[in-house]
Amino acid sequence: MYRTTMPIRTLIVASVCLATLGFQTNVFAGGHEASTDISAEYVPTVLITGSNRGIGLEVARDYAERGWNVIATARRPEATGELKAIRAQHPGLVIEQLDVTDNERIDELAEIYRGKPIDILINNAAISGGHENAKFGSFNHDVYRQVHTVNVLGPTKMAEAFLDSVSISQQKKIVNITSGQGSIAGTWGCCYIYRSSKAALNMVMRNISLELKKKGITVALISPGFVKTGFTPGLDLPMMITPQESAAFVIAVIDDYDIEDTGTFISHKGEIIPW
Ligand SMILES: NC(=O)c1ccc[n+]([C@@H]2O[C@H](COP(=O)([O-])OP(=O)(O)OC[C@H]3O[C@@H](n4cnc5c(N)ncnc54)[C@H](OP(=O)(O)O)[C@@H]3O)[C@@H](O)[C@H]2O)c1
Repeated sequence: MYRTTMPIRTLIVASVCLATLGFQTNVFAGGHEASTDISAEYVPTVLITGSNRGIGLEVARDYAERGWNVIATARRPEATGELKAIRAQHPGLVIEQLDVTDNERIDELAEIYRGKPIDILINNAAISGGHENAKFGSFNHDVYRQVHTVNVLGPTKMAEAFLDSVSISQQKKIVNITSGQGSIAGTWGCCYIYRSSKAALNMVMRNISLELKKKGITVALISPGFVKTGFTPGLDLPMMITPQESAAFVIAVIDDYDIEDTGTFISHKGEIIPW
């Protein structure tokens, strides 16, 4: 459990050191790409949605470099050149096709991994919907529905479908990449569609966290910072960070986020964000 930024920085240094040491002993033993576990040690597993680019890609890379089993999901596996390059270096990473709006596919994938522990489910995939579509008076309601389907219904369905795999793991964490833009207290009047989706995600996951706390499952809400990705095209402002920096921050927060923190809304620097 943490409440200051200092332990987070310490953990980042520690995680960078671990990555540098290069934990290479595990071979992923989960799912239909199963292969031999030569270590017989428990190797934790992480599943990430939207891991073909941006923050999700760097989170997948960092966990692979730690020696974890990584289930890296992407809408279009055929177009995941960078993920394939990571997989070539880290056989513990498998790539699985997954669009988080496709409930049938979510159930199918959960079935493939049934009985296999997934320590951390990271609901990372999201869309912004674009500023032009989110102007009051001329909302694009199709986009509105789509953003909420991806950003709220997707993570909720993922949490339901993969609950059994998370509950039989050691770490038992469902992590949601939310946004400071989902803070109602911090709003300043823009980006209605995206902001309402992240506020809704916060609410549903806060509720779920209360229910799952009894089962020892932690539900995290983590804002990844202001990051130069496909979400922020063309922006290069001094306060922005790279996807690599964001992933290191996010993973350090996940490491430190335990059952006592469940359902809290936390920044990439480990600070509580007002609802
Ligand atoms: N960048 C920021 O400043 C910032 C700030 C706060 C929060 N966030 C949050 O951080 C997370 C990652 O965003 P990012 O900045 O890395 O954005 P990004 O570079 O645009 O990546 C978004 C990812 O989501 C995937 N995705 C979109 N719709 C999907 C669907 N229906 N099913 C499965 N995957 C889907 C994309 O896949 P495709 O390649 O197939 O489109 C892509 O892999 C999001 O939850 C976002 O809200 C970002």
